[in-house]
Amino acid sequence: MNNSTEEPVVALVVAAGSGSRLGASVPKALVELGGMSLVRRSILAMRAGGVGHVVITTPEGCLPTFETALAGLDDVVCTVGGAERQDSVRLGLDVLWERFGPETIVLIHDAARPLVPPQVVTAVAYAVADGADAAIPVIPVHDSIRQVGDDGSRIVDRDALRAVQTPQGARLGLLRDAHDHVVRRGLVITDDASAIETLGRQVVLVPGHHDALKITEQLDLTLAQVILDGRSRA
Ligand code: CTP
Ligand code: MG
Repeated sequence: MNNSTEEPVVALVVAAGSGSRLGASVPKALVELGGMSLVRRSILAMRAGGVGHVVITTPEGCLPTFETALAGLDDVVCTVGGAERQDSVRLGLDVLWERFGPETIVLIHDAARPLVPPQVVTAVAYAVADGADAAIPVIPVHDSIRQVGDDGSRIVDRDALRAVQTPQGARLGLLRDAHDHVVRRGLVITDDASAIETLGRQVVLVPGHHDALKITEQLDLTLAQVILDGRSRA
């Protein structure tokens, strides 16, 4: 059971990417941070936020390696992902669909965000339990942003912008409908909430956290290590 809702909450942790920008010798989700793989940390972060069952998508040919890396964790199922993140999400949702009903609250999380704090996880789950079609964590943007076009560039009002994180939450049936709709229409979406918006549904924003940074390049790993060191001192 989730510690902020009376409903069970499950997670799909997408980990099937190669991590080309990080450039490690293993898939990004298996890279270690403080002696533990990113994917294992991400599962523990979901669990700290009250999540029960977890499905993981892995890169092709890596299923046994992931199963070994996740040994000892209960209620975790690995399945092979697809070519793009949205393919991996669809395949992972199919696995959840075999076990859970359409009203089940699902949190879709990037394995590349291993340090998401529990309050972000529970805020997303709670928003869905409270009636949101979809809920996503967001943080303000600090940099000045310019939009670039053929006729030059223009400044964008950053106060109106938010950076989107994961986990992104919604009910299983709606998530499947949304991702099926995206495939049927040949749409390209960048995240799960925008898939749900293609059905005309609304997305609720909840406060994200800087600790939920996405490990993309080497510098992000360095920063994540600093966050981790700060936590162990606290
Ligand atoms: N992901 C996935 N299936 C894919 C591509 C990405 O499950 N085909 C997952 C990644 O494993 C990651 C999350 O989606 O946890 C966000 O993707 P990203 O940070 O871009 O990871 P990679 O695609 O692995 O990295 P890169 O783009 O640098 O190759
Ligand atoms: Mg990628």
